[in-house]
Amino acid sequence: VVERHLGAGRGLSVAGDLFDLDHELAEQIVAECLQRLATVDVPLNRTGDAAALDAALRELITAEGTNAKRLLAVFRDQLAPAVISCDSPRFLSFVPTAPTPASVLFDMIVSAWSLRGISWLVSSGAVAAENQVLGLLADLVGLPERAGGVFVTGGSAGNLSAMVVARDLAEQRRAGPGRLVALVGDQAHPSVTKALHVVGMDALVVDTDGEPLDAERAEAALRGCSGQLGAIVAVAGTTNAGLVDDLEGLGALAAERGAWYHVDAAYGGAAVFSDRLRARLAGLNTADSVVIDPHKWLFAPLECAALLYRRPELAKAVHTQRAAFLDTTGTDEEDEKEEWNPRDFAYHFTRRPRGLPLWFSLALHGTDAYGAAVEAGVDLAAEAARLISARDYLELVRQPQLSIVLFRRLGWSARDYRRWSARLLDEQVAFVLPTGWRGETVARLCFLHPRTTRETVIEVLDAMA
Ligand SMILES: Cc1ncc(COP(=O)(O)O)c(C=O)c1O
Repeated sequence: VVERHLGAGRGLSVAGDLFDLDHELAEQIVAECLQRLATVDVPLNRTGDAAALDAALRELITAEGTNAKRLLAVFRDQLAPAVISCDSPRFLSFVPTAPTPASVLFDMIVSAWSLRGISWLVSSGAVAAENQVLGLLADLVGLPERAGGVFVTGGSAGNLSAMVVARDLAEQRRAGPGRLVALVGDQAHPSVTKALHVVGMDALVVDTDGEPLDAERAEAALRGCSGQLGAIVAVAGTTNAGLVDDLEGLGALAAERGAWYHVDAAYGGAAVFSDRLRARLAGLNTADSVVIDPHKWLFAPLECAALLYRRPELAKAVHTQRAAFLDTTGTDEEDEKEEWNPRDFAYHFTRRPRGLPLWFSLALHGTDAYGAAVEAGVDLAAEAARLISARDYLELVRQPQLSIVLFRRLGWSARDYRRWSARLLDEQVAFVLPTGWRGETVARLCFLHPRTTRETVIEVLDAMA
């Protein structure tokens, strides 16, 4: 059977039949992938030049097809070096991605099998494994046993899908006329306000003065608001500073006001894996919906975000898609209630079971290894804070709560920070970008890869002397 599917002797030449497998090409790609996975300190690379990239890509897509060797060379020599490696232990900007080799290998299985994860009917095996992970996450968060959800492409998709549910429920509960409003702190990720824009709710953005959002500030903002409160959105680990909002206080306020309580734990939610860190997310268990992104701090490949609902049936009532071609696949109503269809819990339809790479790696390595890997980022952030405090030319903006450190170089302008950042990338020491903090340009480091070293941190800080 294998022989029948292997292209006969044409190795790495122009492709023949669309569905022939070129054995040599397959071996080369697998070998290159394995080499990449075996390299921890992968090249950081740099931003490419648009004209050079255009030139490299010119005339590759033709009516007859292009030689595979040439295509791979273009990828290896032109395209890949123009992608800054977010899985490098030296990538300390934004929120890095550091997938375990096991999860990447299993991602290849998800692709090779063309696994789909739309419905229980077609994909029960994949859905069952994804649900095992979602169940574990819900358990660690402290949600009730009936909680559940779905893996979506990212935190943005999770925030949007949760806001669709919040909006519909708020419409049903509406006590009078007036715009629906969702309260959110000014440090929330922009995907939250964008989601509110998409669903047609007004964002009541609370000024937090650089502090985590708490119930007191939220209540004060609500006093001046004439709209109908539909949702309160808290953040467990802000993207810029890694701050955790007052999850308990905001949850209590949402309950008191009858509003949906969503927690964006896209970055910080991974801390539930650590016995030592879990308490920093106290109150997460009061959420109606939570987003945790394994493609951030749970070492899964892109694109993987877990969206959990306290009461999944509420989300199902909102997100279920009806169509003649779907209704005929249901057995009877009772069975339909039991069947877990991932399409029912977000705005999507076709999806890969993107929770499977995490499922495999988690089952393989065990949850303790995940807790320790998350703690490594927090510990390195604490060490970086000590190293910063010990240097007279540097000043911490605030003590890190999770694994993000903000600090300033005394006397520097925005231009100095940009030069420092460019030089470090130029010398392939680290990818660090300055950020804005209350009107000031400051330095920011996000630690996530467990193999990021103290030596790299020292090199980054010494470059500011
Ligand atoms: C707190 C938070 N929420 C949402 C997002 C958006 O997630 P994604 O880029 O996976 O859509 C991010 C991304 O960094 C984030 O840090």
